Amino acid sequence: MIALTTAWGLSREPFAQDVPVKELFPLPGLGPFIDRFDYAVANGLSTVITGEVGSGKSTSLRAAAERLHPSEYRVISLIATSGSLMELLRQICIALGDPPMSNSIAKMIALVRALLLDIASKKQIPVLLIDEAHLLRLDVFDQLHTVAQADFDSRTLVPIVLSGQIALIDKLLFHTSKPFASRIVGRSHMEALQREHMADYLAHHVSIAGATKPLFSADAVTAIHQSSGGMLRRAGNLARGALMAAVIEHCPIATAEHVRIASTEIM
Ligand SMILES: Nc1ncnc2c1ncn2[C@@H]1O[C@H](COP(=O)(O)OP(=O)(O)OP(=O)(O)O)[C@@H](O)[C@H]1O
Ligand SMILES: [Mg+2]
Repeated sequence: MIALTTAWGLSREPFAQDVPVKELFPLPGLGPFIDRFDYAVANGLSTVITGEVGSGKSTSLRAAAERLHPSEYRVISLIATSGSLMELLRQICIALGDPPMSNSIAKMIALVRALLLDIASKKQIPVLLIDEAHLLRLDVFDQLHTVAQADFDSRTLVPIVLSGQIALIDKLLFHTSKPFASRIVGRSHMEALQREHMADYLAHHVSIAGATKPLFSADAVTAIHQSSGGMLRRAGNLARGALMAAVIEHCPIATAEHVRIASTEIM
């Protein structure tokens, strides 16, 4: 198997999924999302980030959440399922230490509220992050606000940040979701990366992997942009595949032809 690191003199695999937050590329949508995230968290409200598959939603959520100091915040990070509200309440409980649970929805809501109040009593702010939130069922959105609010709506127990594909917005616009949707203060959308940013994006990834010279020709960057539609995961897969194809052909730089070869090998 070809090791890209050896072939291109890199210190680690390029286009990794787990890029440390401090090494992330400053995507145009990242800063505005972090501002909305901070505002929602500071004011006990909710915010939403949407985007196509592989546009950078989960990474942006990770970047925003990692800035919350654990001494002040208790981040409850979930991946949504297509289960009921009961399932979501169970997920929250498991994330908060797996206390004895009940089959009664009323008791489970009471339990989750008690757990959230307990966090607040320790001078921490709980923050609920739900990734893949487009998977949540409509009937979960009906009742989500009942989990977040306490004491006749006088106080918010937990700010909620939802991340998901655009179908999430359709669910939030449905009339039964209104009680929860009315607590959303900001909507961010991860746009496709424009051609003018794609060259910097690719160069950034290979540079944090240790490259000291350009690895993609200008026509390769254009081909990656066109074939990925500006979606980051696909762009990364094409770039990695193009580097592989270039190594096989003993080329010192990846070209559009290498991107074309790569595009026949990814889904
Ligand atoms: N700010 C960034 N800097 C560098 N790379 C990034 C950044 N954001 C995303 N990426 C890269 O893009 C890939 C896809 O991002 P991510 O998994 O966050 O997308 P997503 O929108 O959550 O996808 P999905 O819809 O499948 O959940 C990541 O694995 C990472 O390599
Ligand atoms: Mg994701």
